Amino acid sequence: MGPSGSGKSTLLHCLAGILRPDAGEVHLLGQRIDALGERRRSALRRTRFGFVFQFGQLLPELPAEENVALPLMLNGTPRREAVQAARSWFGPLGLGGLEGRRPGELSGGQAQRVAIARALAPRPAVVFADEPTGALDQATGHETMRLLTEATRHNDASLVVVTHDPSVARWCGRTVQVSDGRVRQPVPGAA
Ligand SMILES: Nc1ncnc2c1ncn2[C@@H]1O[C@H](COP(=O)(O)OP(=O)(O)OP(=O)(O)O)[C@@H](O)[C@H]1O
Ligand SMILES: [Mg+2]
Repeated sequence: MGPSGSGKSTLLHCLAGILRPDAGEVHLLGQRIDALGERRRSALRRTRFGFVFQFGQLLPELPAEENVALPLMLNGTPRREAVQAARSWFGPLGLGGLEGRRPGELSGGQAQRVAIARALAPRPAVVFADEPTGALDQATGHETMRLLTEATRHNDASLVVVTHDPSVARWCGRTVQVSDGRVRQPVPGAA
């Protein structure tokens, strides 16, 4: 958490291997990842990390199920198998029947749940979410956080969330305050 421009997204992008930090180190499971070359960082992003953004960033021309299947296919899963695996996420996320809809035909909350499925389907070790409820009303945001935390826990993955909203932060086990590009104090939050 932290004010606008404090460096939350930048920190998330450094942790996720999208940006290479000028200083400092990023470690994942004992491996230093900030020093890896672009190819290996890109492979790491595809296989170990999942991403959820403020605006779903789904591909508008693809049906919801293909949006979810796409990262699996990029990791080498055959198309039919990937779509089957993708479909298995729709029921548990309350999206049953919406598999064939294009993103433009979904509500903001539904699109965000498709983005959660897309992030989790490849079974990442860490899910990064940058203001995942920023474009949603309070009730839909609450439901999105419930599903995001539940699905991440179910997958035994870790979840790193950037938010302005204290009610979103309450879903997390630990809150870190950032201001002017620095971590202020790690505050132990409610588990
Ligand atoms: N790749 C980069 N190199 C240098 N500076 C950057 C880079 N990306 C962002 N910045 C700057 O770093 C600062 C922090 O930006 P960042 O997007 O991380 O803020 P934020 O905390 O996510 O803000 P918001 O809440 O508005 O999303 C800004 O001043 C931004 O212009
Ligand atoms: Mg940001």
